[in-house]
Amino acid sequence: MTANTQDQTMTTEQRIEALLASMSLSEKIGQMHQVMGSDHHVSDDLREQVQSGKIGSVINIVSIDMICELQRIAMEESRLGIPLLMGRDVIHGFKTVFPIPLGQAASWNPDVIEQGASIAAQEAASVGVNWTFAPMIDVARDPRWGRIAESLGEDPYLCSQLGAAMVRGFQGDNMSDVGRIAACAKHFAGYGAAEAGMDYNTTIIGENDLRNVYLPPFKAAADAGVATFMTAFNDLNGVPASGNEFLLKQVLREEWLYSGMVVSDWESISQLTEHGFTANDKDAAFEAANAGVDMEMVSRCYADNLESLIAEERVSLAQVDACVSNILRVKFDLGLFENPYAQPDKLPAPLNQQHREAAKQAALESVVLLKNSDQCLPLKRESLNSLAVIGPLATDPYEQLGTWIFDGDVESSEPLLPAITALASEHLKVSYAQGMDTTRSHSQSGFAEAVALAEASDQVVLCLGEESILSGEAHSRASIELPGCQAALIDTIAELGKPLILVVMAGRPLALESVVDKVDAILYAWHPGTMGGPALAELLFGLATPSGKLPVTFPRVTGQIPMYYAKKNTGKPPTPETVVHIDTIESRAPQTSLGMSAFHLDAGFTPLFSFGHGLSYTEFEYRNLELSSPVMSSDGKITVSAELQNTGDRSGTEVVQLYVRDLVGNVTRPVKELKGFQRVSLNAQEARRVEFTIDAQDLAFYDRKMNRVIESGQFHVWIAGDSESGVMGEFEIVGSGCRHIPH
Ligand code: GLC
Repeated sequence: MTANTQDQTMTTEQRIEALLASMSLSEKIGQMHQVMGSDHHVSDDLREQVQSGKIGSVINIVSIDMICELQRIAMEESRLGIPLLMGRDVIHGFKTVFPIPLGQAASWNPDVIEQGASIAAQEAASVGVNWTFAPMIDVARDPRWGRIAESLGEDPYLCSQLGAAMVRGFQGDNMSDVGRIAACAKHFAGYGAAEAGMDYNTTIIGENDLRNVYLPPFKAAADAGVATFMTAFNDLNGVPASGNEFLLKQVLREEWLYSGMVVSDWESISQLTEHGFTANDKDAAFEAANAGVDMEMVSRCYADNLESLIAEERVSLAQVDACVSNILRVKFDLGLFENPYAQPDKLPAPLNQQHREAAKQAALESVVLLKNSDQCLPLKRESLNSLAVIGPLATDPYEQLGTWIFDGDVESSEPLLPAITALASEHLKVSYAQGMDTTRSHSQSGFAEAVALAEASDQVVLCLGEESILSGEAHSRASIELPGCQAALIDTIAELGKPLILVVMAGRPLALESVVDKVDAILYAWHPGTMGGPALAELLFGLATPSGKLPVTFPRVTGQIPMYYAKKNTGKPPTPETVVHIDTIESRAPQTSLGMSAFHLDAGFTPLFSFGHGLSYTEFEYRNLELSSPVMSSDGKITVSAELQNTGDRSGTEVVQLYVRDLVGNVTRPVKELKGFQRVSLNAQEARRVEFTIDAQDLAFYDRKMNRVIESGQFHVWIAGDSESGVMGEFEIVGSGCRHIPH
């Protein structure tokens, strides 16, 4: 180990410079290489590579002993003693599993999300993991895409706010503190726009949409100090993200002045050849290194080719030094040179009661009450004598954990049925029938038992949806209706005429139009994690009140996708009056008789449930929107407020949302854009004025020349409980033309 790496009187940049000066080219290239490790043993080959400084990072080891041994070899047996980055996908928890990120997003609560990431960091750090590949902040507007489960939804503003909260949770104020780990903003960029919602598929995104929709969450993560970025798998407008100089040089480094480290996705550099973007691994290394990918995940294009590329002057030594500096900076900022080893004695035990309570709170706030006819919920515990619980997901501790739970502890996961039984009063008889073997089963052999049980009970809770394997990476679906014969089970049980509650566990929005009228209430739980059962039971019995709001639009049918609230108005916007339904068309109807506007003959133009929708067990009313001024300058701000009243008979929490519409723009502007939200808790009948500040900067967008501008003009503004309702006002940005502002 050289003295310089230990001299803490030097600045980080001085330590990087000093270390770089003492590194051989082979050691520099070694830092740019990440390999996959094993939890069972340190192979001779891995040992030799670490000893000779040929590895900068290891992924997918979570054995504290293996991690400590590898760090010891790096610190004590290699020439320069450079510690390793130990990476792991800690996406929504480590041992204690929180709701999937899409579910966490439904809480609209940055504090809950930050706490979840902080707990995940502590649990991962306790075994020596020091780098996670999260938050995933791809804007996702296509629920066929399996990775919508990992996303924070369809809206750039919500993804920005919640992604930044995750970064803060993982990294804290100082990444070198015990229990903090480096975060990773992924997948840069545009991955969520995969054609046909098919994972890994081509993405064609106009630069204006890229800048106005898909990039803002990454800018927010960079502004929040995220230590690393990960390049995406996808081909973006003909240039795969892992070789995309526009993204990695022009946007990330020159426009955003980002100084963190960029890692490829798994073998995404070698896949440049699969894309047909390069002819071989050497060319792939050339493209990725010159585009600015600092570290290669698992494939060996850098390890095998950078030395010759430098000798051939196709990649400069300066470029390699820049990559290595970015990598070393993360290691210094993590404090790894001072202490790379796990310190479990300084951290709380994974899965402790506080962690479980936090996971339950996150689950409570992530569940969305989509429908509640005649106040069917909450269940009347005192007067209810018999309850039938039906469905394969009501008893399965594994499926409710969701995708990306490499380290989740299934044994500690608490499913719905025992949680209901635990809360049931002594005179309430709770019975269970599976109904179907799995959510994908097409066999109705279990229906008779389920029907008999339902018939003999006062009320029925159906727990259906998707197994966790049906979402996540590489798990896209061409149809987002309920899998298997679940709809038939709902139809069959509904015929009994009992109050019927549907609890859905899924990794995406499902198209529920065919069943929505068959049930009296719907609680959408996503995959709720370790404490999903207790949280759902408390909500069912009214010990807690739902407050979740949808972070993503629910289409009626798959064919409406992509469907999102912040759409453009088009030149022929539909209205209810201009829309006809396929079943009502007269025979030989004249060609122009059906209305000439943007809708589907067999689905209309509205979603089943809109972005921001979510009911409570109480009601909220919005009144009297007020503006501090009807005008503002392009560098000014105004406040907008409305009165919110809980008009029901029980306390509740409402996520109050602020939307604007820019009526005329240098490019067409969305019909609505989320610009703020607040969680407001009110007692029965309590009223409060809720206030937001709108800064002109919040209204900036990229114009047709890709300048970031604030334009003068008219705006509408809403304060609402979802993206379709609320109280509205108007204001204007006055002044000449438009004001250019920095990226
Ligand atoms: C995967 C994913 C990425 C993940 C990485 C490491 O293929 O795309 O999100 O972080 O590989 O597991």
